[in-house]
Amino acid sequence: MTDFQVWAAAQQQRIEEALSQMLPQPTVAPQRLHQAMRYVVLGGGKRVRPLLAYAAGELAGADPQRVDAVAAAVELIHAYSLTHDDLPCMDDDSLRRGKPTCHVEYDEATALLVGDGLQALAFQALAGKPLADDCAIQLEMVGLLATASGSRGMVGGQAIDGESVGKALSQPELEFMHIHKTGALIRASVQLGALCGQTLDSAEMERLLHFAKCIGLAFQVVDDILDAESTTATLGKTAGKDAEANKPTYVTILGANQARAFAAELHQDAMHALEPFGDRAGRLRQIADFIVKRQF
Ligand code: IPE
Ligand code: IPE
Ligand code: MG
Ligand code: MG
Ligand code: MG
Repeated sequence: MTDFQVWAAAQQQRIEEALSQMLPQPTVAPQRLHQAMRYVVLGGGKRVRPLLAYAAGELAGADPQRVDAVAAAVELIHAYSLTHDDLPCMDDDSLRRGKPTCHVEYDEATALLVGDGLQALAFQALAGKPLADDCAIQLEMVGLLATASGSRGMVGGQAIDGESVGKALSQPELEFMHIHKTGALIRASVQLGALCGQTLDSAEMERLLHFAKCIGLAFQVVDDILDAESTTATLGKTAGKDAEANKPTYVTILGANQARAFAAELHQDAMHALEPFGDRAGRLRQIADFIVKRQF
């Protein structure tokens, strides 16, 4: 295993435990809802958003115990977004992380409530204990996650995604959609991780956020490529769904080769933004590499 794989496995184990502790036990009423919440969150996923939070925390010298809370919060929002994304009224998917989707394993009403419950739990994680020495910063963190998740962030991007079916979007329109539906939460993961540590000066924070913007967009560009080119077995979710649903993606707009070139360009831009941080940004560089080279 590479040094990055060893580090990532340790963080993945760490976030698994934090999430397991945070989620209500399956024996707590209402049992079926709590079982379903644990079903969608635990034991799967690449945990890219928590990894980014830990790596940004490392860059800012944060106490990893504080970062646990923000890593859990962003992963809970992400798991909620996936659960709702898979519903019949949205992408209508039956496979997620190699298992039946929540509405297939349980039922639609449960899947809806699982998402609602996970979203609330995410904010509980951020508000439940001190995460910054200055309360004003912690308040800012709660607001930040709300903006990244809501109609000016992920939910807004999902709305545009739904409205765009069958349309030929321009590249700026597609970029706007992707930056919202996927980029906003990835950006928040980096920012929240960093805010758990020592205050970065405004130029440093700007660079870090530019990095996050680039890799957030690259993440969805690669997701579009994998949807078109990979297999259901490798992805653990149904491949070819975007074409089947007639969705505009980077592959439909640029073609696969140019989409790959665009992801590489974003990766370079992201790396450039990290230069002044030197070794402190080592883990963030490794995650950026993983995001563009990943096969699943
Ligand atoms: C899939 O996200 C949905 C997108 C925002 C592209 P991930 O690829 O991070 O999914 P998991 O968490 O690894 O399952
Ligand atoms: C979903 O994008 C982004 C979310 C906010 C969940 P996709 O619909 O492309 O995600 P997958 O491919 O189903 O994971
Ligand atoms: Mg979708
Ligand atoms: Mg989907
Ligand atoms: Mg996709």
